[in-house]
Amino acid sequence: MQNSTITGIIIMKSSTHFLFLVAAFALRGAYARNPNWGFTEHMLNYAMEMVKHASEEPRDEVNILPEYDFIVVGAGSAGCVVANRLTEVSQWDVLLLEAGGEENYIMDIPVVAMLLQFTDANWNYKGVPSNKTCLGLTNRQCLFPRGKVMGGSSVLNYMIHNRGSRKDYDLWEDMGNIGWGYEDVLPYFLKSEDIAIPELAKNTKYHSTGGYMTISYPPYRTPLAEAFLQAGIETGYQIVDYNAETQTGFSFIQTSTKNGTRWSTSRAFLHPIRGRKNLHVSKRSYVTKILIDHDTKRAYGVEYIRNKKRYVVHARKEVILSAGGINSPHLLMLSGVGPKKHLEDMNIPVIEDLKVGYNLMDHMAVIGITFLVNESVSLRSDMVFQNGKDLIDYFRYHEGPLTTAGGVEAIAFYDTKNLKGIKGYPDIELIFIGGSIVSDPTLRKTFGISDYIYERTYKPIQKSHAWMIIPTLLAPKSRGRIMLKDNKPLHKPLIFHNYLQYSDDLETLLKGVKLSVDLSETEAFQKFGSKLHDVPVPGCEQFAFRSDDYWRCIIKHLTCSMFHVSGTCKMGPASDQGAVVDPRLRVYGIKGLRVIDSSIMPVVPRAHTNAPTVMIAEKGADLVKEDWGQLG
Ligand SMILES: Cc1cc2nc3c(=O)[nH]c(=O)nc-3n(C[C@H](O)[C@H](O)[C@H](O)COP(=O)(O)OP(=O)(O)OC[C@H]3O[C@@H](n4cnc5c(N)ncnc54)[C@H](O)[C@@H]3O)c2cc1C
Ligand SMILES: *[C@@H]1O[C@H](CO)[C@@H](O)[C@H](O)[C@H]1NC(C)=O
Ligand SMILES: *[C@@H]1O[C@H](CO)[C@@H](O)[C@H](O)[C@H]1NC(C)=O
Ligand SMILES: *[C@@H]1O[C@H](CO)[C@@H](O)[C@H](O)[C@H]1NC(C)=O
Repeated sequence: MQNSTITGIIIMKSSTHFLFLVAAFALRGAYARNPNWGFTEHMLNYAMEMVKHASEEPRDEVNILPEYDFIVVGAGSAGCVVANRLTEVSQWDVLLLEAGGEENYIMDIPVVAMLLQFTDANWNYKGVPSNKTCLGLTNRQCLFPRGKVMGGSSVLNYMIHNRGSRKDYDLWEDMGNIGWGYEDVLPYFLKSEDIAIPELAKNTKYHSTGGYMTISYPPYRTPLAEAFLQAGIETGYQIVDYNAETQTGFSFIQTSTKNGTRWSTSRAFLHPIRGRKNLHVSKRSYVTKILIDHDTKRAYGVEYIRNKKRYVVHARKEVILSAGGINSPHLLMLSGVGPKKHLEDMNIPVIEDLKVGYNLMDHMAVIGITFLVNESVSLRSDMVFQNGKDLIDYFRYHEGPLTTAGGVEAIAFYDTKNLKGIKGYPDIELIFIGGSIVSDPTLRKTFGISDYIYERTYKPIQKSHAWMIIPTLLAPKSRGRIMLKDNKPLHKPLIFHNYLQYSDDLETLLKGVKLSVDLSETEAFQKFGSKLHDVPVPGCEQFAFRSDDYWRCIIKHLTCSMFHVSGTCKMGPASDQGAVVDPRLRVYGIKGLRVIDSSIMPVVPRAHTNAPTVMIAEKGADLVKEDWGQLG
């Protein structure tokens, strides 16, 4: 079966269960090409692992009680951690409500990360069409995938495990968030970690073993990934452990994977505790409202829809919102907590006037900068899916190219304000991909690249070997906003990302693009004859190719999200007019309601946001325990 047929089916059926069939077909095809490979044995191993995976997720509870001590909304990166830690207190009972369904074995094959965006495990958000950025994308819309599945976005993400630097969290503390400085949060990063990289594990100040979340290097690497690190050395940078003392430098990615498979927060934090009697999980349960008493201003439960029926469930102690950077502010506003004027415009009775939905931050990036090579050394999706050996390597041994994190292999962090300083505070990240995802007709759709640009610029190199760098802006000045479209809970909110509100952001990204091109010219990459793909992107043809203005135009056309939407329920002290939650994550003015997820970040760390979100959940759960006299 052709790769295009496979991906076509995935898109058509849009059902995660269909992924199983795809894998079975692929294996069947591999066997047809290599009949001496012991088909039965491999299929048996595949089937056994599949069944084991399915049986380890906590079951979907049908007998929901009328009342729980705590209700956690959303089983994502944060919600799974919170549910685990709160049910450590045996006299508490907890209900975890998740809009999505089961995570499955296929979703946890690292290389398929991008394909999951075509399934029903994605909320499928799109930004409001912008006039400044995303200009080369269909309808000028940047895409905002989010996980709608057990594990949330930790099932859709690229698994890069990255904490950020000391300064990121010291800044939170300086803003008045007592208890969130680096020395306070480092123990929480360590608490969940189980590092499976021996040379890093030795550094016990920054790493630990035995936690729920396993961190590994993927067992497979392209020669191009090695070249990327070599290029770093050639240009005067260091190889670093970016989760330790120094962030600026080059590294292979540390990933949230275990034995070559994705280790989502559901697998890490929920599978091992599926036997706890005091945890109920209700899947395909879409929360539509947090119930708040108008007089006492206490949150006393939630309303949700399951199988087209409406239910109400009460909370004795607290409702905890862990629905993520887009959905947490959405739900708060629907429930009467948000900017007064906006809620009135939407005909929602206002319970508390707070700046919900403001302060949206994301790491914007530029997609499409591609370098051609003269040897067959890159990852190509058609080869990965059709090469029988690669499939067997994965299904039998959890090895080979299918273990790479959606093609991402290595990263570099730069402080462009102090390029040669080694102890910098990074403002640019270069994400290295050992293949070209924009010249794949299917994968480019995950970034929304328009058909016209694809046909003209990228289709001609569809069959070539190539690699890419995605320059990413780590410390955006720009702030966006989430707003309601109307007061219907099932309607998607509006996402105003507001990328490049400030020209500084554009100029910093421009430096990132130029650094990427410089790397391609190193000896390490010239060994493979690396050459910048030079078919100009329509819309930018009026500028001299490779000129600064050409690159500025590219940044505005091929804009993409690095998926780190955060900050929309900002944490801050009482004096902060923009704060939605206090430093104990309690929603201002409302009793019995906290937000614990990526939306509380006052400033997004200069890092990928999964590990920081898990940290927030670890610390948040301790704050809850402390407030109810259950800590230690
Ligand atoms: C495609 C992609 C790639 C990424 N790559 C990386 C990476 O490589 N490294 C990294 O560190 N970070 C990465 N991220 C970001 C990281 O995964 C997120 O920052 C993190 O998962 C956010 O966690 P959260 O708990 O705030 O939200 P989520 O994990 O999104 O969890 C929210 C959960 O709440 C559920 N929910 C929402 N609304 C409702 C409702 N009304 N009722 C019931 N349930 C609801 C959702 O279905 C979801 O399960 C990526 C994200 C994406 C989408
Ligand atoms: C983009 O421009 C159009 C026409 O000028 C305008 O109506 C629209 O509101 C603008 N969109 C944004 C997001 O600014
Ligand atoms: C990793 O997975 C493979 C394939 O299922 C299995 O054979 C192997 O024993 C696993 N390794 C570890 C260390 O668990
Ligand atoms: C690729 O290009 C490099 C640099 O020009 C050259 O040294 C190398 O031999 C080429 N490899 C092949 C397979 O053509």
